[in-house]
Amino acid sequence: MWQPKLIMMNGELVPFDEAGLHPLSLAVTYAATVFEGLRAYQTPDNEQFSLFRLAEHIRRLQAGMKLLRFDGTYETDYLRDCLTRLIYANEPDGDVYIRLLVYIEGAGLMSTTGPVGFTAAAMPRTRPKLGDTGLSLGVSSWQRLSDNACPPRIKSTANYLNARLVSHQAKADGYDGALMLTPQGKVSEAPIACFFMVRDGQLITPDRSSNILESITRDTILTRYRELTGSRVEERIVDRSELYLADEAFLCGTGQEILPVTSIDRLPVGNGTIGPITEQLRQDYFAIVRGSVPDHPEWRTLI
Ligand SMILES: Cc1ncc(COP(=O)(O)O)c(C=O)c1O
Repeated sequence: MWQPKLIMMNGELVPFDEAGLHPLSLAVTYAATVFEGLRAYQTPDNEQFSLFRLAEHIRRLQAGMKLLRFDGTYETDYLRDCLTRLIYANEPDGDVYIRLLVYIEGAGLMSTTGPVGFTAAAMPRTRPKLGDTGLSLGVSSWQRLSDNACPPRIKSTANYLNARLVSHQAKADGYDGALMLTPQGKVSEAPIACFFMVRDGQLITPDRSSNILESITRDTILTRYRELTGSRVEERIVDRSELYLADEAFLCGTGQEILPVTSIDRLPVGNGTIGPITEQLRQDYFAIVRGSVPDHPEWRTLI
């Protein structure tokens, strides 16, 4: 498998192992960083790459920079050109996962707003194996962050301290992953993915006020489900006890893509196998991101 050779810092390509940031930067001391995880899929003819929903990823990055009061912003065209240079410089022969981090690179006080810098890295990332078998989740005893403390709707590095605690607890308890509840005890999301479930034929997901990241894959599923079935996904508050009565469940995210969930707190989801709605959405997602179906060309930026 290909390996990253070069990484980009502030628009310049540098050897991957030589990238560095000062330890006293606010990015390190106060987690003054927002980031994105994107995928560039090889097109079906293997001739090009398609950045999936680039504009939406950049918009979320810009929203995070605004909320955290970073100086200035980065324009989509500039970042698209940077990512194109980065990807081709690494000569990948398969799909690419991109980490794009924007941070305050200077040392300073808590309220310092610049100078702002960015790093973009291109790495190989294969499809998670549990995607074909389904995963076990446990409901974490750690709560999801709340909006008026550390807003989960933006993708800030600081939010992943919460995710890390949850992930370690799940591992120690022998689960493949975890679900978090809001401080009100309602279902929120997983440490690095959003949650969907099917009950009585209805696809349901926690609403945007359930302390979730404003996920781009979640939005893709909301759109595709409506187009494929003519029905809307129910976006609403989800009670914990509903988890145990679900007929199907899955997680979704750029990195995770669509991961079926087959048990929660050791109770089987439905009959404990991957459900038909989950499988249909999964196959559709794989076709859409790569462009093996022509729908939504605006979601694929060809480079
Ligand atoms: C906490 C959290 N929720 C949801 C997601 C899914 O977001 P997206 O679909 O934009 O990748 C991620 C992935 O980055 C995440 O970290």
